[in-house]
Amino acid sequence: MVGLKTRFFTANGIVKAIDNLSLSIKTGETFGLVGESGSGKSVTATSIMDLIPDPPGRIVHGSVYVDGFNILSDLPKLAKIRVKSEKDVIIKRNKRAIKRHGYVLSGIRGSKVAMVFQEPYLSLNPVITIGEQIKEAILLHNRRSIAESLIKRETLNKEDVEKMIDNIMSQPDLLTRQAIIHDWCLDYGIPDLETPVNDLVNNSTDRDFIVREATEMAFAERENLNIDDILTARDYYKNVDDLHELNLRKLELESTGNEAGLAEIDARISDLEASLRSEFFSYRLRLKIMKRRYEKPFEVVAQRKALELLRQVNIAGAERVMDSYPHELSGGMQQRAMIAMALSSTPKILIADEPTTALDVTTQAQILDLIRDVNKRSKTSVLFITHDLAVIAEMCDRVGVMYGGNLVEEAPVREIFKDAKHPYTTGLLNSIPRAERRFEKSARLESIPGTVPNLISPPTGCRFHPRCKFKMDVCGEKKPKLIEIEKDHRVACFLYSDEVEEEPKEEVP
Ligand SMILES: Nc1ncnc2c1ncn2[C@@H]1O[C@H](COP(=O)(O)OP(=O)(O)OP(=O)(O)O)[C@@H](O)[C@H]1O
Ligand code: SF4
Ligand SMILES: [Mg+2]
Repeated sequence: MVGLKTRFFTANGIVKAIDNLSLSIKTGETFGLVGESGSGKSVTATSIMDLIPDPPGRIVHGSVYVDGFNILSDLPKLAKIRVKSEKDVIIKRNKRAIKRHGYVLSGIRGSKVAMVFQEPYLSLNPVITIGEQIKEAILLHNRRSIAESLIKRETLNKEDVEKMIDNIMSQPDLLTRQAIIHDWCLDYGIPDLETPVNDLVNNSTDRDFIVREATEMAFAERENLNIDDILTARDYYKNVDDLHELNLRKLELESTGNEAGLAEIDARISDLEASLRSEFFSYRLRLKIMKRRYEKPFEVVAQRKALELLRQVNIAGAERVMDSYPHELSGGMQQRAMIAMALSSTPKILIADEPTTALDVTTQAQILDLIRDVNKRSKTSVLFITHDLAVIAEMCDRVGVMYGGNLVEEAPVREIFKDAKHPYTTGLLNSIPRAERRFEKSARLESIPGTVPNLISPPTGCRFHPRCKFKMDVCGEKKPKLIEIEKDHRVACFLYSDEVEEEPKEEVP
């Protein structure tokens, strides 16, 4: 995320919710975002997905790179914003460009970036069972991979089983064996075989016997589908995925003005669209006429995957929960179901916006364990938003501290707790109770004087200056730049550097 600015155009004035924010999350790391209420944490998260409600909000500047693509590269085309005064703003939306932007982003939301919110009951549909909702999410993002696994399952032969069993038997470690069986069963679309194959391998050393039994079980899982139908579906969904990827690439090339690259991409998009149009009609027609034959195998696999996801997030009685409605579950179970849904497509980034605030302490600990587990197992990067520093200490590798829509400090988690630099960060740290100081007579909790700034007319210069006990003359006049003062430790404060942040040029204040 580079130079992001998000605004809300309200009757009272323009809320400068995010102001020139830049941060990056590395693959597999958990990045914590912390700050007082109203500092812009949730708006940062929704900006990454471009889910800012419009009206009143708009991202007015910046880039968000997901998996190498800038998802905001078409930002200047989406709307022209003319600010006559704080309360008189004319926004001309380009509906066509916004529609195309939405289409391109629909391929990223959920599949590359997934989000878990603070109140799961607001995100779950109250009139659809949990199982159906997870199934829907699975089918939305995984039809192509389901088709691949169906093809593999239907064409599986004894040699495939032999290869897997030989691989297992060469591994002395039990956990590695379990992982191989797990991946293999998923790959071949036969998750129900995971436990029986594990039992077989644990209870016998006779290789030929294991191969014979496992092959028999795998063959019994086949439904003898019409493989040509599944191949047609696989090609269709592959083309849909490719078209999404090409459109994303096109946006990127348009923003860099690469004419030669654009012409090539346009030609590929037209070809693909033409073939999809004809495939679409024939596929949809066949789907309509023979819905059972075409759709059923996908639904069966999605159902199994949904159940497996619920088990993965440690929901007790997963089978029963599949048929339950959201109101029949506790808050913790609803949050687990939301996490299961977020994992339906192995996203690159999981954004968790205060996912445990509404839960009791024990359930909170379990949900945190679960997110940690997802992060470790699938190498999913996590953006963890909270105002609880204790949770940050437990969960995160690096931390970003937000104040008034700005990132004021960023460092590895140990560094923040050992050697925080920014006066706001030290204020936050001093305001939490510490067990080792509870018997000290002088151990009073400090609070940061004042309140969070009004973001319609935020303080000039450093936004923290009205509350800062170290403020200098320059602090009210100029805005400090976020700079690296030690390895991996960045701070925006004139106590550490004279560098001033230059405002990006654009018409919105
Ligand atoms: N729909 C909206 N309309 C107007 N202003 C909004 C809207 N959504 C957010 N804001 C403003 O954006 C600013 C940042 O809000 P945000 O929700 O990101 O805070 P937060 O750090 O997530 O706080 P909390 O810890 O309470 O969740 C706030 O000043 C808020 O008033
Ligand atoms: S820049 Fe000035 S006002 Fe802002 S935190 Fe640093 S010392 Fe305080
Ligand atoms: Mg929030």
